[in-house]
Amino acid sequence: MDLRSPVDPQNADILPTRQGYDRWSTIYDGEDNPLIRLEAPVVEGLLGDTNGMQVLDVGCGTGRWSLRLASVGARVTAIDFSEGMLQKARAKTGAGRVRFIRHDLSRPLPFPDNAFDRLTCCLVLEHVTDLEPLYREFRRVCRPDGHMVISNMHPAMTLLGIQARFTDPETGRDTRPESAGHQISDYVIAATRAGLRADHLGEHLVDESLATQSPRARKYLGWPMLFVMRLKLSD
Ligand SMILES: C[S@@+](CC[C@H](N)C(=O)[O-])C[C@H]1O[C@@H](n2cnc3c(N)ncnc32)[C@H](O)[C@@H]1O
Repeated sequence: MDLRSPVDPQNADILPTRQGYDRWSTIYDGEDNPLIRLEAPVVEGLLGDTNGMQVLDVGCGTGRWSLRLASVGARVTAIDFSEGMLQKARAKTGAGRVRFIRHDLSRPLPFPDNAFDRLTCCLVLEHVTDLEPLYREFRRVCRPDGHMVISNMHPAMTLLGIQARFTDPETGRDTRPESAGHQISDYVIAATRAGLRADHLGEHLVDESLATQSPRARKYLGWPMLFVMRLKLSD
């Protein structure tokens, strides 16, 4: 079932995903994003110690995870198809320690088999229509003893009409890079079909502490905002 709620074109612009992120890149890092506040400690905990490890950051955006992981000693390769987002990432302190590559996830990953110990794919998969071929690529490039941490906006948010979106500073309009409308079952079943198994699934609610830090989140108090999985290769 496609969970996307219909968007009134009078009130919002839906852009092809890459174009949407190219536009969003100009303000992406300056916004208060409660989803990111909620996500950061969860993903950090699931990744564990990455010092000295080969890590692939898929859909790296402005380098939030790539730069963080490189700063604690990981050898990071980061891929994204938005030149706008990549430019922001490459301009940051510490970016010289990360190998940034422009790549569209609808194509096979440009890496050999078993190249990475860890893979992060944070807040990206809601934009990927066909999940199974991408998960198969994750499986191929991840070492047999490695693991992957995947975070997404919780699909329940879609029921409230919320998806990745920003106010375009040029047009002043609600603007949304196109999303696929997946349910949790879509994420999990596609991973299973691709030969992966989840050893952790977490659904995280907006609580009082998050609403205090990020007033934007208060209207979602009690709702699940974040969905996180850790995936390993099936035996
Ligand atoms: C919400 S941002 C998240 C960025 C980063 N992972 C983070 O957590 O801060 C989503 C990113 O996914 C990238 N993305 C979406 N679809 C993609 C695709 N088909 N190929 C490559 N990158 C894609 C976008 O360009 C954008 O930078």
